[in-house]
Amino acid sequence: MVQLDAVPRPRPGADILGVSRGSAVLELGCGKGGNLAHVATLGARAVGVDLSLAQLRAAEARWSDTAELELHQADALDFLAHCTDTFDAVFSVFGAVWFTDPVRLLPAIRERLRPGGVLAFSQRPPVEGCYGCQASYITRSEDEDPLVVKRWDYEPPRWTRILRQHGFTGATAQVLPAPVGPRKTGTLLVRATMGPATL
Ligand SMILES: C[S@@+](CC[C@H](N)C(=O)[O-])C[C@H]1O[C@@H](n2cnc3c(N)ncnc32)[C@H](O)[C@@H]1O
Repeated sequence: MVQLDAVPRPRPGADILGVSRGSAVLELGCGKGGNLAHVATLGARAVGVDLSLAQLRAAEARWSDTAELELHQADALDFLAHCTDTFDAVFSVFGAVWFTDPVRLLPAIRERLRPGGVLAFSQRPPVEGCYGCQASYITRSEDEDPLVVKRWDYEPPRWTRILRQHGFTGATAQVLPAPVGPRKTGTLLVRATMGPATL
């Protein structure tokens, strides 16, 4: 994906999402909207959801001259439960998919994906031996305790199994190497398409 965002973060690219002019695309946990803005510049309808009003305000400020974004402040599960639209692709870059129980989230995403639609997400690979729901500590200021949030970490074969169990087909999951530079941790990239339910 062409880098519109100032923060380099490995992400599902437009080719992985199959985005083209007229596609409807949803990002779960869009943050400041760099990835979503890129999707919009490809001619897709770009819908973003994020819990954080501050992030969404920053997205509006950054991209209002560049790209038309539909931004919603909501928890990803709540948004999916109330949304009546369907999407050609749903994606998440170190976003809400990482921070939501897949057992609840994947059925909700399925409800909003068109047949053959794509789900793709990226996140940090699991720490060896630490699988399932993990506590994640997010540093704030020096004066504040870190924020503790839950995140869901699995190895690639487990992700493909979970996706299959929730009716997704052609699931792939791989750890991409870190780009050249100081960062040593790769990126887990997961992709699947919406198939018939198997549950
Ligand atoms: C690490 S940031 C990544 C933002 C963006 N995807 C990027 O690559 O720059 C994670 C974002 O996910 C949002 N988020 C986390 N859990 C969420 C949830 N359950 N529903 C909606 N947004 C969520 C956070 O508010 C935050 O903006």
